[in-house]
Amino acid sequence: MNQEEIFQQKVDTEVRIEPKDWMPDKYRQTLIRQISQHAHSEIVGMLPEGNWISRAPTLQRKAILIAKVQDEAGHGLYLYSAAETLGISRDEMIAQLHSGKAKYSSIFNYPTTTWADMGAIGWLVDGAAIMNQVPLCRTSYGPYARGMVRICKEESFHQRQGFEILLVLSKGTDEQKAMCQDAINRWWWPSMMMFGPKDDESPNTQQSMKWKVKRFTNDELRQRFVDICAEQIKILGMNIPDSDLKWNAEKKHYDFGQINWEEFWNVVSGNGPCNKERLDARVKAHEEGAWVREAANAFAEKQKQRAHKNSVAA
Ligand code: 3HC
Repeated sequence: MNQEEIFQQKVDTEVRIEPKDWMPDKYRQTLIRQISQHAHSEIVGMLPEGNWISRAPTLQRKAILIAKVQDEAGHGLYLYSAAETLGISRDEMIAQLHSGKAKYSSIFNYPTTTWADMGAIGWLVDGAAIMNQVPLCRTSYGPYARGMVRICKEESFHQRQGFEILLVLSKGTDEQKAMCQDAINRWWWPSMMMFGPKDDESPNTQQSMKWKVKRFTNDELRQRFVDICAEQIKILGMNIPDSDLKWNAEKKHYDFGQINWEEFWNVVSGNGPCNKERLDARVKAHEEGAWVREAANAFAEKQKQRAHKNSVAA
């Protein structure tokens, strides 16, 4: 067997691929692409919710939201570290994000206009993220799979706190109920787009399934998401903004309407409501944080020199 065949046999027999193992260059590139874009999504994803930390309705809500946003930062750092094991540097990945070359999840290019958006993001966006990320705990690349275990535990808290925000609003005043439904209306379809294009229009899915980077296809995970949300929405007494959403007894799944793929590709290509604002915010934060990186690097260098001096003296 040649190296490719040995590699594929390892994947087929569920042997984890580790950083020092031989891997096809295209496998490496696919992982760098997916993991770095996943990391970018976590970091950019902090911005829409960060917008509401100073305006949370109670101290408790503020504390929960701060904890969630802080978690997302940690998820990003985990994932950047996993991507670095494949040979790309942190600086390269950050430069790809800031130049607009790298993608991040389109969902984060929508504005958060009311407090109910914090609930809709937790329930729908983190809910979709969990659907897509739990299988990634079994992805064939070791560092990615191991990083996802901790991330998924925290995502569950994110999803529950979001659903609870909506549940409280759904039992509140007429204005609160209207705010709850409005947020679900605005976040439902962009959340459906988080799973990526339809399988027959996805250039990466087939190969990613063969390499067990993905365990399920985009459409399979999207369908699971719809089936779960179509039941959970009943507890809220609200509606999912899709008149085609209907239980299909034969398929034992919910049928749902057409996703606006023109909107999807428009946002992915940088023309969403908040794309420019998000990237500007990331570039500004990176520039303003340069002194922290310089200080940390200077300290590390000093430590290294001190350790060297001690080892020479010893
Ligand atoms: N937003 C932006 N770009 C998207 C996208 C989305 N929602 N869905 C797909 N794309 C891009 C892909 O990156 C790919 O472009 P590329 O080849 O230039 O990278 C192209 O559209 C075609 O899509 P494919 O389905 O062929 O691409 P993938 O096989 O990579 O599947 C994916 C896309 C399902 C997002 C997959 O990359 C994945 O599972 N990534 C890991 C999970 C992830 O990144 N989730 C994003 C959200 S993270 C999050 O929500 C944080 C939480 O805390 C809130």
